[in-house]
Amino acid sequence: MKALSVSPLRVFLFVAGAIIGIHLIASYSHEGYGRITSISPNKFRSSRPLPPVPVQRLPNEQIYSDKRENATFVILCRNNQLWDALRSVKEIEDRFNHRYHYPYVFLNEVPFTEEFKYALKHIASSEVEFGLIPHDHWFQPAWIDEDRASKARQKMQDDNIIYGGSVSYRNMCRFNSGFFFRHPLMQKYKWYWRIEPDVHFHCDILFDPFRYMQENNKTYAFTISMFEYGATIPTLWGHVKDFIKKNPQYVAPNNAMGFISDNNGDSYNLCHFWSNFEIANMDFWRGEAYMKFFEHLEAQGGFYYERWGDAPVHSIGAALFASRDQIQFFDEIGYEHAPYTHCPRQGNNWERGRCSCNPGHNVDKDQYTLPKGRKDRGETIEAAAARETYEETGYRCSLWPNRLPTRAPAPGVNNVHTVEVVDNLVEPIAVTIRQADGKVIFWYIALVAEGVEKQEGTQMESENYKSEFLAVNRAMDILTSQTDREIVAKAYEIVVQKERL
Ligand SMILES: *[C@@H]1O[C@H](CO)[C@@H](O)[C@H](O)[C@H]1NC(C)=O
Ligand SMILES: *[C@@H]1O[C@H](CO)[C@@H](O)[C@H](O)[C@H]1NC(C)=O
Repeated sequence: MKALSVSPLRVFLFVAGAIIGIHLIASYSHEGYGRITSISPNKFRSSRPLPPVPVQRLPNEQIYSDKRENATFVILCRNNQLWDALRSVKEIEDRFNHRYHYPYVFLNEVPFTEEFKYALKHIASSEVEFGLIPHDHWFQPAWIDEDRASKARQKMQDDNIIYGGSVSYRNMCRFNSGFFFRHPLMQKYKWYWRIEPDVHFHCDILFDPFRYMQENNKTYAFTISMFEYGATIPTLWGHVKDFIKKNPQYVAPNNAMGFISDNNGDSYNLCHFWSNFEIANMDFWRGEAYMKFFEHLEAQGGFYYERWGDAPVHSIGAALFASRDQIQFFDEIGYEHAPYTHCPRQGNNWERGRCSCNPGHNVDKDQYTLPKGRKDRGETIEAAAARETYEETGYRCSLWPNRLPTRAPAPGVNNVHTVEVVDNLVEPIAVTIRQADGKVIFWYIALVAEGVEKQEGTQMESENYKSEFLAVNRAMDILTSQTDREIVAKAYEIVVQKERL
């Protein structure tokens, strides 16, 4: 739907940092984990001196445990990612595995080179195995209609959807969704920790996450959650609903539907655990519920006819078939996969982990919102809307005159009380009342003229927004508030109508 972004309306969005993570689950999955105190997201912003680090630092040897769980790291990568894989392994070794010595399994659809194997074996402190992915686990199945699949890829590429034109990306998503845990080298393990080339572990991990999962009856753990691109999964949720209807026995009684749907399962809210980091129980994926679920999805061909990602597939599977309390958010594990970082913020996790990340740059507290602001004394609402938009986004704009039904009479005409549809009106397209503070917000469509450049330094001292133009469908995916999404939908409808006239 690229056309949407080149309409004369360039919808304004500004983003404070990046995408919001919805951590509903985090708040209750941590119960009983101890030592978690209050969240104080602002402590690194204050100008007051930081309190002294209250933790006693233990020498590494004392944390060492020789009780290992039935677990492995798994790294899917290519030979040409050798140096990126090496850095990831070095970091997880330094921050964690030099005390535990969990093994590694590397998987690839072609054999690893001798150079690759030599380097990785050299840097790991534990057993390393290299596996070739069976042909049918990786490549597009023969029953997929290639004509239909290639048309879908072309369309997504034209629409600028990330990896929209890639077959190998689709192979990877399908492999991660339904096959990696069935690889012969993975069969012998119960737990895995997925690592990607070129990721960062920013904190010492002072406990064994596998052991924590095992002892606390957990199934799936994450560090970052975010929104999926809706255009990559247009029919996925419909097939999920079909599956649930036909197989209600698989849905866990105390499931996490509330995380993935805002209307009790009617639609998917696009939330997912960012699956490039996962610690999970493979027996859960291998179990009847998830395997049946995967086969149901596989049969639709959506991994190829659309571009279903393993993140929504795993997230939906975990949310539906595991109990809510079996899903774990690990605040302690500082993790970065560019461009997003999770940096610990709870209690003194940052200090204890000797973290090297900035807790102020945390994906989970950033949100997407439409620009708005308060009107000054004596200022008209219209002037305030244009000024605030400019100040918050850096783009000069004018309010867009549109065609609207109105009861306001023409100047000088008295006593006409009928509704007339009139062109060139600069009037709000909607008025909303914000529940939280009772503020009344008047919404306008604004236009940025062709060639207008962004000005820096227009924000107030206390503001720190990043502005971004987005295609309408993308904006609808990621705007944090439902009201903002409805406003964009309304604005779009008005603009499209006007175009047609
Ligand atoms: C580890 O887990 C796998 C999968 O559940 C199982 O087949 C295997 O027997 C387990 N190994 C040990 C030593 O318990
Ligand atoms: C693990 O949790 C699930 C879901 O709450 C529960 O049904 C199961 O009995 C638990 N297993 C153990 C061993 O506690």
